[in-house]
Order: sequence, then structure tokens, then C-alpha cells
Amino acid sequence: MRRSTVLGSVLAVLASVITSVGAPPGRAAAAAQDDFLWGVATSGYQSEGSAPDSNWRRYEQAGTASIKDPYVNAVDFRHRYAEDIANAKALGVEVFRFGVEWSRIEPRKGVVDQAELAYYDDVVARILAAGMRPMITLDHWVYPGWVADQGGWDADATVDDWLANARRVVDRYKGKGAIWITINEPTIYLQNEIANGGLEAWQTPWMMSRLVTVHRRAYDMIHQLDPGTLVSSNTAYLPAGVQIGQDTLFVDHVRDKLDFLGLDYYYGASLDNISAVHGASGEFWKIDPQPDGIYYALRYYAQKFPTLPLYIVENGMPTDNGLARPDGYTRSNHLRDHIYWIQRAKADGIKVIGYNYWSITDNYEWGSYRPRFGLYTVDALTDPTLTRRPTDAVATYRALITGHGVPAGYAPVKPPAFCSIVSLDSCLSPARYPGPVAPLN
Ligand code: BGC
Repeated sequence: MRRSTVLGSVLAVLASVITSVGAPPGRAAAAAQDDFLWGVATSGYQSEGSAPDSNWRRYEQAGTASIKDPYVNAVDFRHRYAEDIANAKALGVEVFRFGVEWSRIEPRKGVVDQAELAYYDDVVARILAAGMRPMITLDHWVYPGWVADQGGWDADATVDDWLANARRVVDRYKGKGAIWITINEPTIYLQNEIANGGLEAWQTPWMMSRLVTVHRRAYDMIHQLDPGTLVSSNTAYLPAGVQIGQDTLFVDHVRDKLDFLGLDYYYGASLDNISAVHGASGEFWKIDPQPDGIYYALRYYAQKFPTLPLYIVENGMPTDNGLARPDGYTRSNHLRDHIYWIQRAKADGIKVIGYNYWSITDNYEWGSYRPRFGLYTVDALTDPTLTRRPTDAVATYRALITGHGVPAGYAPVKPPAFCSIVSLDSCLSPARYPGPVAPLN
């Protein structure tokens, strides 16, 4: 992924092009959750395998900029979902996030593949039978090949086609307590489309305005079909003030159509940690994690949108192909330290309603299997059995869920960064440390 390359230069242009709506909070009251939701997350293309024609299938076959490894069969979630759902249940999570792939259920315009819909029916049924709640992503960066043929997000027709598919999915899974994510990380979606040739940079404003439009319409449609549900889009948090600009592209235009804000936090920045630059080369495992940054990401939105509940829809740590990090920092350390800072945020009055670990298994990291994020590791390129092997963090996550977080007095393995610049005020107004932690229940 290219998180940091294109974005800065297009922010100013885009902000003026997209129509601002700036309305007051809509149905935020619906998000009044009393219980903290623990979850795991995955996406369709990254894990399913046997992928039909789509923008990403074409990128992989053409060997575009992001492609380092062949897709092969990903981790075959398409046929092994029962095992992954059972593993999630054994963790004790309450939410299982996955994506329903448009390219799979509508491989040709207007032609619905009933067998693939039946597969998703069974995914949803098993999640419910396991006592969990589905969190369904309608668009995790993948659209059918026939949509690519009509111009992808540069085509007006894509808006109505996208909404027709969304309606089909919501209509099918309404009334089951699902939480809905319309579009995963809209701005990173844009960056990937440009990086892989799905779109020219100058077409950027049109894609962003169409994503705003489909989110706004989908929000109303979902609430009409599935009353009382929760709807959001998730944003990738980018440090050092970049988030402010990123918000002008999407979040600021849909504020009144969010029941909570989905927040993905992976990487921070501080005066003693600028390792996030490794993201530019795709070497995410070289980035030094900055757990206290999740506190500042939450605080940024708590200050910006005081009435909007926040949900960490993704958080996790990449390793280099499953190898231990050279500094000895484990997936368990990373997980506990981030939960500590979420508990600090809650103790400081920030309304955080849930946390999903990214990801239940390793998967196709948009062109490469080398960055591994899974609670369960899978050798996608070399193990024909695609065996799921638990990492140290499986037992850790289970214990955190049972214990409602880390115990009072927990000392993070990684101390706070020196002068964090995760938000513009984080260096000048650091969180009290050590400080109180609230249980997550
Ligand atoms: C995306 C995931 C990705 C993860 C880790 C997020 O940007 O939603 O698809 O795998 O980050 O890089």
C-alpha cells in the first residue's frame, strides 16, 4: 500500500471539489452501546481465495505496482470459514467482521450467483450460531471486472450499480443484528486505485465524490431496511496532522451519516519514531509500533465529534513473514499495550465502543503475503494444507477479553513515545502516564 505518497498533494484540490454537507449528527443515538464489543476482522479478497474477475484480480494478473506475490488461493476462507469462525468463537469475541464480495455474487452485470450467496448465508448463519454478531463490509476495495470495464469509480453508472448490490446484500442479511461498514478506508482505496492503474490521479475528485454519494445513500437505505442497526465507514488514521486533511476528503462529508466512527490505527509517529516511512516501500514490519498513538487517534475524534461513539475497527501488527521482530516485541505485547491505551482513553471519558483485531488469520496484504497480521498464522504460499497455527496472541486475546482488558497497574512493554505527533496536540498535551484504566465491558 502507498499510504503516504499521493495523498498530501491531492488534499487541497479535493476539499474544494467535494460537496460539503456539514449537517448535525444523525442517528448517533442508535449507537448508544452499553457493552464494549470485542471482535476480529478480515476481508473478502484478502482471505477467500478462488477469486472471480475483479479490479484486484486484474492488478494481480497484470503485475501492477503493488504486486509482489501471486494471489494463488489466499487462505481459502471461501472453504475454510467454518474453522475461522470457530476459532473466533473460542477467543470469546462478539463480533466477526468480514466482507461480502460484490465480484463474487454479481460476476456479470445483473447476473447473481446463487451458490456464492448461499456461501455468505452460511457464513452469517455460523457467526450467529456461534453467538457472535456479523460486521459486514460492503466494499473492501474490490469491484467486479465488469465495473472495471465501465470505468470503475470514474463512471457514473458505478454509483447505481454499487447501491443495487448493497441493497441486495442488506436485504438478505437484515434483521440479524449486523453492523454495517459501507466502504473500507475510502482514501486508501483511492490511493490503491491510482497506484495500480485503476484510476488516473486527475480522476481522484470523481472517485471521492462518488464514494461520498454511495455512503450517504447506503446509510439511509440500510436504516430503512434494517432499522436500529449501526452503520459506518472506517478511516485509516494517519499521524502528524495528515488525518485533518484526509477527513476533508470523506469523513467530513458523511458526519451526519455515521452511527459511530470506525477507526483503524496501525502506525504512529513521534520525534523519536519516524519509522512509518517504511510504509512507502511496503516494509510495514520495519515500522516501530507506537501503542500510545491509539489514545491520541481516539482523542482526536473525541474532540472533533464529541457525541459520536468510536470503534477501533482494525488494529494489529505486521511481522516479517511470521518471524519474530528483532526487538523482541511480540504480538501479545502489541495487543496488550494497545488495549491498555484504549482503556486509558475510556478512563478519560472517551466513548470507545469496540475493538477488532486485524486479522483472525494472515492474508493477502494487497500484493504480498510477507506482512503477516494474523492471530493465526498461515503459510499461504508454501503450505498446501493452509493450516491455521495459533500465535502467542491467541491466548493473550482470550485472556484480555475474559479480564475486560489489562488489569489495573499494567505497565506497557513499550513506553509512551517521546513527543508523539500522532495528533497535533499530542506532544504538547500528552496523556497522563501512568494513568487510570477503565475496564472494557
Ligand atoms: C486495510 C486492510 C489491511 C490492513 C493492514 C487496512 O488498511 O483495511 O485491508 O490489510 O490495513 O495493512
